[in-house]
Amino acid sequence: MEFKRKVSPSLLAADYGSLGDAAQTAESGGAASLHVDYMDGHYAPNLSFGFDLIPALQKRVKIPLVAHLMISNTEERLADFIKLKPDYIIIQEDTVGNPGVVLNTIRDAGIKNGFALKPDRPVSLFSELLHTIDFLLILGVFPGFGGQKFMKETLSKMREAHQYRLKHNLSYDIAVDGGVNMETAPEIIHTGANVLVAGTAIYGKPNIQQAIEDFLAL
Ligand code: DX5
Ligand code: ZN
Repeated sequence: MEFKRKVSPSLLAADYGSLGDAAQTAESGGAASLHVDYMDGHYAPNLSFGFDLIPALQKRVKIPLVAHLMISNTEERLADFIKLKPDYIIIQEDTVGNPGVVLNTIRDAGIKNGFALKPDRPVSLFSELLHTIDFLLILGVFPGFGGQKFMKETLSKMREAHQYRLKHNLSYDIAVDGGVNMETAPEIIHTGANVLVAGTAIYGKPNIQQAIEDFLAL
């Protein structure tokens, strides 16, 4: 099976004075999706966007919106996120009692599902779940802030997740989020991971579209 390289800019690093424009620039620059980080100031030590951002972005772009929930009360807020109909909802597996149940609820609502692993959480614990998801998000940093240094020890999980999908003929995307830049991307791609989520390395650049092209050209 072929896994297409995709770039998913993270709006966390965009200019908050013009998020709609930032989204459109990414779309016309070749972004496959847009990554929208939800942080609650509790699970992640930062506050980011509110519910209103997804509908606002839906009016501006057609590419899929990926809501990455870094919140403590995922189960309590899930219905609210489902109502917004983002294209993907990604949960942090350690915020819910039973990740399998939550992932099924998302899929049953017609939304693509996935879970994220913090740097210190192994992928081996979740083999069964890999059969039920569209998207695996491997964090290269602890959730919270853009611009952190990529933790190389997470590379082995990417390899493991890629080997697993090949072996079992599964088609979930493997996305890497946190510390992805032109220096770290080559070794990330080498593991077989196929979706590059990048905030600072795209929105921190003077030419956003060129930054996306550079990732696609690697
Ligand atoms: C990490 C967030 C990321 C963040 C990545 O807490 O989930 O999506 O935006 O930022 P960079 O690409 O700057 O490391
Ligand atoms: Zn994220």
